[in-house]
Amino acid sequence: MDTTATSFPVAWCRSQFPALARQHNGRNAVFFDGPAGSQTPECVIDAIGDYLRHTNANHGGVFATSRESDALLEGVHSAVADLLGAPDPDCVVFGANMTTLAFHLSRTLARTWQPGDEIIVTQLDHDANVTPWVLAARDAGATIRHLPIHPGECTLDLDALSQLLTTRTRLVAVGAASNAVGTVNPIATICRMAHAVGAEVAVDAVHFAPHRLIDVAEWGCDWLLASAYKFFGPHIGILWGHRHRLESLECYKVRPATNTLPGKWMTGTQNHECLAGVGAAVEYLATLGRQIDPSAVNRRVALRVAYTGIAAHERVLTSQFLSGVAALPAIRLFGSNLPNSDHRVATFGLRHTQHTPASLAQSLSDNGIFTWHGNFYALPLTEALALEPDGLLRIGFLHYNTQDEVARLLSHLNALTR
Ligand SMILES: Cc1ncc(COP(=O)(O)O)c(C=O)c1O
Repeated sequence: MDTTATSFPVAWCRSQFPALARQHNGRNAVFFDGPAGSQTPECVIDAIGDYLRHTNANHGGVFATSRESDALLEGVHSAVADLLGAPDPDCVVFGANMTTLAFHLSRTLARTWQPGDEIIVTQLDHDANVTPWVLAARDAGATIRHLPIHPGECTLDLDALSQLLTTRTRLVAVGAASNAVGTVNPIATICRMAHAVGAEVAVDAVHFAPHRLIDVAEWGCDWLLASAYKFFGPHIGILWGHRHRLESLECYKVRPATNTLPGKWMTGTQNHECLAGVGAAVEYLATLGRQIDPSAVNRRVALRVAYTGIAAHERVLTSQFLSGVAALPAIRLFGSNLPNSDHRVATFGLRHTQHTPASLAQSLSDNGIFTWHGNFYALPLTEALALEPDGLLRIGFLHYNTQDEVARLLSHLNALTR
């Protein structure tokens, strides 16, 4: 049953991820915890070890290991630029994690804001794309506006957005996909709406990145934030912006650090070994693309092929899960119950009439199925849906999950419901 209706090479993918071999009471553990962090393929683990074994050096020396390290790191900027659809590798900035970079960016932008300016944040976002903007706006005396959702479908209310956008709006902070309920937002449309009043758009693509191909040019966004540990890499945050903005803004940095891109934005010594792992994660995805279509030599083309396959495979798993859950009246799903891959990714938030999210997660865990419960820091959403303090049970499928695993999950949910 593990071959999907598409020709997606799920067995090959699984063979790349050593963690997936983990056993729980004599059965394979099932990793449906991906929204909080994906597993990593062997090539990522090797790249981290190889960096430390052979290339470990600080930046900017004239000796062999420092030169080799700098060349390797330059290659990682190029790899991530390809992943984002960004032509200029110098516009890719790395940092500790998405949250730290969001605080960095928000403080920097806030130096250009003043009382009367307005910043829009949404009810659908992870708090890492809300509170940094709220605090920066507070420091600048700017006003925060909250974009509501349609609670039934958990989609953004675009009519409300057009009401909120005015010539006072300086920035719209929005997620590309919800980490709690899987909604995919119409980022290109939101960018067009914001630009029409002269506002910038900062996109949180953390949850989108393992599921769909990011394209900053197609979206037309101004800023993008991501996190490599969600797309099969190690724990590193990513920031992208346009060259003229990155160059002209005065960001917080120490005096001896460079004023040129990308180093100007990358405070302190970077996590070189994990950056090597980020490059390997992009290569893994490109290699997946070439497994599907060996003629996809160009890395961006190979990434596009990989993500087309990932979307098709996830859609099969999504349909299977949604039709299984529809037959369980004790379960209430939040967000779209349609498998349309343009509107949702394979992340599901649900509640059960008799069990709390925590006890559901515990029961699944006892059966070797790893899921999350709570609010996952998507606090504006769980508050808007009156789901605090218990939150949701969150089940997330990634491309390495299989139909057999989804069947195992459904059979367990079914048993709990009886
Ligand atoms: C949608 C989304 N945005 C932002 C973050 C924060 O990312 P990081 O852990 O890299 O700070 C997360 C983490 O779960 C997330 O899911």
